[in-house]
Amino acid sequence: MCGIVGYLGHKKATEVLVEGLSKLEYRGYDSAGVAINTKENLEIRKFKGRLSVLSDDLEKNPINGGLGIGHTRWATHGEPSDVNSHPHFNKDKSIAVVHNGIIENYLELKEELQNEGYEFLSQTDTEVVAHLVDKYYKGNLLDAVYKATEKLRGAYALGVICKDNDKELVAVRKDSPLIVGLGENENFIASDIPAILKYTKKVYFLENNEFVHIVDNNVTVFDMNKNIVNKAINEITWDVESASKGGYEHFMLKEIYEQPNAVKETLIRRLDNNKCIKLDDIKLTKEDLEKINKVYIIACGTAYHAGLIGKYAIEKFANIPVICDIASEFRYNNPFIDNNTLVILVSQSGETADTLASLRYAKENGARIMSITNVVGSSIARESDDVFYTWAGPEISVASTKAYTTQVVSFYMIALDFGMKKEIITKEFYDKTIENLKSIDKKIEKVLSQEDYIKEVTKTLNKKDNAFYLGRGLDYLVAMEGALKIKEISYIHAEAFAAGELKHGTIALIEKGTPVIAILTQENLLEKMISNIEEVRARGAYVIAITKENHKEVEKSADKVIYIPDICDNLSTVLTVIPLQLLAYYAAIQRGCDVDKPRNLAKSVTVE
Ligand code: AGP
Repeated sequence: MCGIVGYLGHKKATEVLVEGLSKLEYRGYDSAGVAINTKENLEIRKFKGRLSVLSDDLEKNPINGGLGIGHTRWATHGEPSDVNSHPHFNKDKSIAVVHNGIIENYLELKEELQNEGYEFLSQTDTEVVAHLVDKYYKGNLLDAVYKATEKLRGAYALGVICKDNDKELVAVRKDSPLIVGLGENENFIASDIPAILKYTKKVYFLENNEFVHIVDNNVTVFDMNKNIVNKAINEITWDVESASKGGYEHFMLKEIYEQPNAVKETLIRRLDNNKCIKLDDIKLTKEDLEKINKVYIIACGTAYHAGLIGKYAIEKFANIPVICDIASEFRYNNPFIDNNTLVILVSQSGETADTLASLRYAKENGARIMSITNVVGSSIARESDDVFYTWAGPEISVASTKAYTTQVVSFYMIALDFGMKKEIITKEFYDKTIENLKSIDKKIEKVLSQEDYIKEVTKTLNKKDNAFYLGRGLDYLVAMEGALKIKEISYIHAEAFAAGELKHGTIALIEKGTPVIAILTQENLLEKMISNIEEVRARGAYVIAITKENHKEVEKSADKVIYIPDICDNLSTVLTVIPLQLLAYYAAIQRGCDVDKPRNLAKSVTVE
């Protein structure tokens, strides 16, 4: 997601900002910009594209000044463009703002401000902040930022500077990351540590609703009631490389840990009043839905596995038949596509060649095209009639983790919305499922808190070349994702099977010590799964079971049990996949594999 750097000191601000922003490139971005106080005015430069576009421009036409704010943008509201890039400013360019996060009530605020005569240049949510600060600015920047944030709902880390004082920088955070770097006669703000590590290792970690006021060489932190907060100085011991991973050894582990927040982002941005799903970006009306007689879900790899859960959810909640197909097969399978077909493409990158080719094929044949993707402005997003962005933030590790969980949550939301519009599900079921979805981030955290135990369990996979993943119903679909994950990063050969199918052939492969990972969360299938576990154990398998915490009886049948918090059967997928990701991660570590860049694989597969 977006990166912020701010600087006040004796160095040339543009150099510090560009250097800092370059260390935030790993977050993913589509444009970059700076605002510098030159003592006479605020000079703003911002461009769509790589950071080099900005740095080349600054080299040709330098800006002098020791106070500035910089930003790398990862588009959310409005396409990547020069005008949508940050910093944003008020009408006379005397106030400049950089922002990371989402202002949820920006439309409402924008309307209010427009009625008061404010003109908007961009499509961003951030521009409302610049105008709000302008509205409240009466010579005291800190006060104006306080008053502006009182109006804001959502998540934000903000950096604000004003033309009137070249020795003053104001910042605030709520639900988006922001730190303060403390140097010798110079100070910094940044979204993440790597941006400032070259200059200082002393930082303040800001808490929600803390305001930072940097004036000359003095840094003061205030709480929301304007009381001074005595912050502890933290000494950073990481190097730059490990800092961009936020202290995690690998991007994969970092992204696994980002899942509570990522699924929350997917969800809250589309919850109106925290209650009802509002698919602003999907134009399908109730009437359109009535006409749709079948849905195709098309994707590759992990995205395909998320699609399988989507098929389950749409069929169950909205009563529409769904065919889920692999993108490289779809066009050659004589698909039944017509004007009443909805085709949903799923792709983290939005650039996967087979998925894009399937989109074009479906479009040519008259289907309505919807996509679920993570990358704003990607090819698949641009060519779709409707786009559902997952808002997972950039995924860098080749192995998909947060992309999967956010895609699955997206499908649950789409299916609930369709089901409600078509009057298939009751309001009670709809409300209850949304409540359950809202609690899922905390439940993921609870699963993650068992990391040490899962790491220990993974030792039993040491020196094994094969593993089997078993489940029934939804659990089987998650087993498929678990098997892919361990294959691609640890090179252990793994296959997923519908547990009842095993005795039709595959059980012949089970011998003493064969690892079997069994998932059993579906109440109506629990006894049958326990029988399947007994069958493989009787033939020597070593069974690692994943089940809900109220099913302690599973301990009698399995060698090791990993528990997930209690959750309704329909949504268990988002929790059971977490231990499978950690198992794959630690299996890869044990075997000395390059976790983030597994052999023979690329993050985005742009060839068919
Ligand atoms: C899984 O860990 C892989 N990264 C891979 O299967 C991936 O999901 C697939 O290549 C599809 O990519 P996409 O979501 O970017 O289209």
